[in-house]
Amino acid sequence: MNRQMNHDGGTVAAPILVTGGTGRLGRLVVPRLLDAGRDVRVLSRQRQDAADDVEYVIGDLLTCEGVERAVDGVGTILHLAGAANAKGDDEATRNLVRAAARAGVQHVVHISVIGADRVPLGYFKSKLEAEQAVVDSGLPFTILRAAQVHDLVLTMVQAMAKLPVIPVPGGVRFEPVDADEVAARLAALTLGEPSGMVSDLTGPEVHGMDDLIRDYLRQHGKRRLLVPFRMPGKAGRAYRAGGNLSIDGAATGKRTWEDFLAEQVNFPSDTEPALETPGHTDDGYEVNKRINRLFD
Ligand SMILES: NC(=O)c1ccc[n+]([C@@H]2O[C@H](COP(=O)([O-])OP(=O)(O)OC[C@H]3O[C@@H](n4cnc5c(N)ncnc54)[C@H](OP(=O)(O)O)[C@@H]3O)[C@@H](O)[C@H]2O)c1
Repeated sequence: MNRQMNHDGGTVAAPILVTGGTGRLGRLVVPRLLDAGRDVRVLSRQRQDAADDVEYVIGDLLTCEGVERAVDGVGTILHLAGAANAKGDDEATRNLVRAAARAGVQHVVHISVIGADRVPLGYFKSKLEAEQAVVDSGLPFTILRAAQVHDLVLTMVQAMAKLPVIPVPGGVRFEPVDADEVAARLAALTLGEPSGMVSDLTGPEVHGMDDLIRDYLRQHGKRRLLVPFRMPGKAGRAYRAGGNLSIDGAATGKRTWEDFLAEQVNFPSDTEPALETPGHTDDGYEVNKRINRLFD
């Protein structure tokens, strides 16, 4: 553990900087680090309400404002900051690790996504380049690739369920994982020694996109027409080949999508099944556009 001198000449563990500490995963990891008795600093672009136990630093990894101050005196960085579409995550990570190297940071823990090296979409490419920035920094590092968390899949499914007819890319599957289980793994990695690329973390089950949508519709008593379509191009091929899914050796979370959904809603007892469409369409240009917007 990295230590720094205190006022009495003794040593204390150096603070941990969490970028993205205000986000979905960050909010779950920070309390775990505090519970482990560590001082935690959080970088955020917005002023946060003062909290006795967390030090907030205002800054932006893209403009570099506040970043030097954020990394000053830190032993470990847990880097979770990222844009929803990952645009700029590569540049933000390069800016962070450059400042971290200058400040003598001892360990950078970084979250990435399963499929970063296999799915040719902007989101995945940016995550891969962010990983590379961490590796190239020369800093001791740990990188965890995780599957999409349940909450994110739910947001995606909710958006799709607003459409009167839901275009569903055929052959696209997900392995949603519980955000709390990802947070627990990230906390353990942050409190541990640099470990390089560690095993992926996925959820316990693989679900077709159509099943994820049907589960959601069923639980909300909604009826929608599902229209399968063939996702075009290299990205479609990569998804159908399971490029976004874990390969052998991944660690697997316990909480299932069904468990997660069951806790999200009070189910109406009398629910309608989602409508099925036996037909297949591959000509829906508008449909493709909408779906691609959800993925890219
Ligand atoms: N959620 C998933 O399913 C999943 C799966 C695999 C990997 N990941 C990766 O895990 C990370 C965290 O995901 P999440 O779902 O917790 O994200 P989130 O809820 O969208 O939170 C994003 C965080 O990034 C911070 N941020 C964004 N741009 C920033 C910038 N320019 N400078 C400083 N901070 C910035 C935000 O802080 P402020 O708004 O306070 O500035 C916020 O705390 C992301 O890198 C994501 O790609 C997520």
